[in-house]
Amino acid sequence: MARKKILVTGGAGFIGGNFVQYMVNKYPHYDIFNLDLLTYAGDLTKHREIEKKDNYFFVKVDIADRESIMSLFEKEKFDYVAHFAAESHVDRSITEPGIFVQTNVLGTQVLLDAAKQINVTKFVHVSTDEVYGELDIDPTTFFTEETPLQPNSPYSASKASSDLLVRAYHETFGLPMNITRCSNNYGPFHFPEKLIPLTISRVLNDEKVPVYGDGKNIRDWLHVIDHCAAIDLVLHKGINGEVYNVGGHNERKNIEVVKTIISTLGKSEDLIEFVTDRLGHDKRYAIDPTKLEKLGWKPNYTFETGIAQTIDWYLNNKLWWEQIINGEYQNYFKKQYSLNK
Ligand code: NAD
Ligand code: DAU
Repeated sequence: MARKKILVTGGAGFIGGNFVQYMVNKYPHYDIFNLDLLTYAGDLTKHREIEKKDNYFFVKVDIADRESIMSLFEKEKFDYVAHFAAESHVDRSITEPGIFVQTNVLGTQVLLDAAKQINVTKFVHVSTDEVYGELDIDPTTFFTEETPLQPNSPYSASKASSDLLVRAYHETFGLPMNITRCSNNYGPFHFPEKLIPLTISRVLNDEKVPVYGDGKNIRDWLHVIDHCAAIDLVLHKGINGEVYNVGGHNERKNIEVVKTIISTLGKSEDLIEFVTDRLGHDKRYAIDPTKLEKLGWKPNYTFETGIAQTIDWYLNNKLWWEQIINGEYQNYFKKQYSLNK
């Protein structure tokens, strides 16, 4: 089989990092380039098991650095781009929206120019269900690919803007692309600012778990490896120009997720602390993945098997998350939350 060059942006982060490992191991005949700026959310220690492999490469660049990106693309002539790099945390977008526009919008546009310049075979833009806004608490409504874009947070607005740019480069310049819109991921290497790893790490340390509002907001959870399989499929088989939603019908109220983790770890629900709600907090996300299923995708994890595997992973990989929560994260946490204990 012909040797292909795949560029994965954001490959030092949570989903991009899992995707890099998935691709390096599954396709020894592909060269996998991990491009990442190594912001607070990126770390390379997660790649110890693959970093010596012949088909893994790392390059530290800002996606918004036009000169460096253009010359890298000219030099390497990538066949495929899987674009994960982004500022990804909704709470941070509420306190510091500017960097979200810089990275998610302008950075994506730089990558699109570079991809167009070298005529890549496919640009897969990894987006989010948050671009659709929120659903009512009505179990019969779902986001489809036709749902209008109505982003509510600076994060989701920046992602929706980048989606529109990707679409425009396809319509105007014929850039071959797919856009994927996924629900909430969880699994190994999830940065502990997000609900599930934050809860696991704090419960393990007998610390209070901050639950926003009444805890009744609903998210649709997808194991990160099921997401990686979806991106792999879309990269190879996605119909040019199409959008694909990714989700596994695993809707849970936040409070249910937190209670599941607490009971699995044998701790007390007294650890739960209801705190001031997130501004503009979306009520419910839920994905209709029919279109992707017709392409040949189906998730392997249920929420029950996935959360058990994830809790085990955090129990067995304390060194990884402790190095994060003991660093700059402490300042972030103090600023973001004011907990009793
Ligand atoms: P993450 O925050 O864990 O990782 C983001 C990575 O991008 C980090 O390694 C960071 O260093 C890198 N990065 C940030 N700015 C950069 C820049 N200017 N140049 C180069 N690299 C930069 O994010 P994640 O949760 O892994 O999300 C990955 C992608 O998937 C994002 O585009 C996000 O919008 C999307 N997404 C995430 C979820 C989820 O539940 N986490 C769900 C749907 C879609
Ligand atoms: O839906 C996909 C999106 O999922 C991705 O696009 C984002 O990048 C990703 O961060 C995630 O966004 P959410 O805002 O849904 O994820 P988060 O883990 O921050 O929050 C999940 C839910 O838990 C949400 O309703 C807010 C709530 N929450 C979160 C935190 C961090 C709390 O109650 N307490 C918390 O401390």
